[in-house]
Amino acid sequence: MTTIDTATGREAPAELSEERVRDIFTGIAGQYEKFNHFSSFGQDRRWLRALVESANIKPTDCVLDVAGGTGEVTFGICKRCNPAVIVLSDFTPAMLDVARKRIERGDSRGVVVETCVVDAQDIPFEDASFDVVTMAYGIRNIPDRMRALQEIRRVLVPGGTVAILEFSTPPFPPARAFYNAYLKWGIPAWGQHFTGRRDDFVYLGNSIKAFPDQLSFARMLEQAGFQNVKFKNLAFGAACIHTARTGQ
Ligand SMILES: C[S@@+](CC[C@H](N)C(=O)[O-])C[C@H]1O[C@@H](n2cnc3c(N)ncnc32)[C@H](O)[C@@H]1O
Repeated sequence: MTTIDTATGREAPAELSEERVRDIFTGIAGQYEKFNHFSSFGQDRRWLRALVESANIKPTDCVLDVAGGTGEVTFGICKRCNPAVIVLSDFTPAMLDVARKRIERGDSRGVVVETCVVDAQDIPFEDASFDVVTMAYGIRNIPDRMRALQEIRRVLVPGGTVAILEFSTPPFPPARAFYNAYLKWGIPAWGQHFTGRRDDFVYLGNSIKAFPDQLSFARMLEQAGFQNVKFKNLAFGAACIHTARTGQ
C-alpha cells in the first residue's frame, strides 16, 4: 500500500495528509460553501448539477456520498432526484455538523439523509450496499487513493455507478497557465478573505497541481477494477467528472 503527501504527490505517511486535511476542514467548515461559490465565480453549482446528472440516480437507489462535507452534492441530489436514501459521509465531524443544520432547515426536501463519520479508505458498510456512490473534491485529499477507490467498488452493487468530480488539468496550454496562476495567487487570496487562513488555500492549489490529470485518473479507476470509465471536462478541464461502473 502506497500513501502519499496529497500536497506533493510524493510518498509519505498517511497521517501527514489526514491530520492536515482534517485540521483545514475543521477550521473552514462554516465558510466553506461561500468560499467555493465565489472562488469558482459561481461555477460550483453548475458543476455539481453536472455531477448529479452524470450519476443517473433512480428513485429506488441507495446513494453513498463519500467525502460529502457540508452536503453540497447530497442536497443537490435531493433537489433533482428522489432516491430511497442518501448516506452523507465525511471524516471531518465539523463539516457534517454544517450538513445536519441544513437537514434541519429542510434542504433534504423529504429525502431520507443519514450522516455518518467515515474514512473513505475504510468504509464501514457491507459489500454491495449502494447503487450509486458520489464524491466531489474528495479523492484529491486522500493519501491512499487506490484503497479508497477499491472500497467504493466494494460497497457498490454489481452494475453500480461511481461519479467523481475533481479539479483537473486543462489540456490547452494557455488555459493551463492561466489556471495555474489562479491557483497560486487567486485561491489563497479568496481563502484569506473568507476565512483568514491563507495557508490552507495554498495547500488547495498545491494539491490540485499534484493530482493526476484526466487520463491518469481514468487509468486509476480501471486499476481499481472499474469498467466503462468515462470522463467529461468542465471549464476547459479545470474540473472533470469521471464516471465508471462495477462489473455485473
Ligand atoms: C473540498 S471538501 C468537499 C466536500 C463536498 N463533497 C463538496 O462538494 O462540497 C473535501 C472533503 O473531503 C473530506 N475528506 C478528506 N479526506 C477524507 C477521507 N479520507 N475520508 C472521507 N472524507 C475525507 C474532508 O473532510 C472534506 O469535507
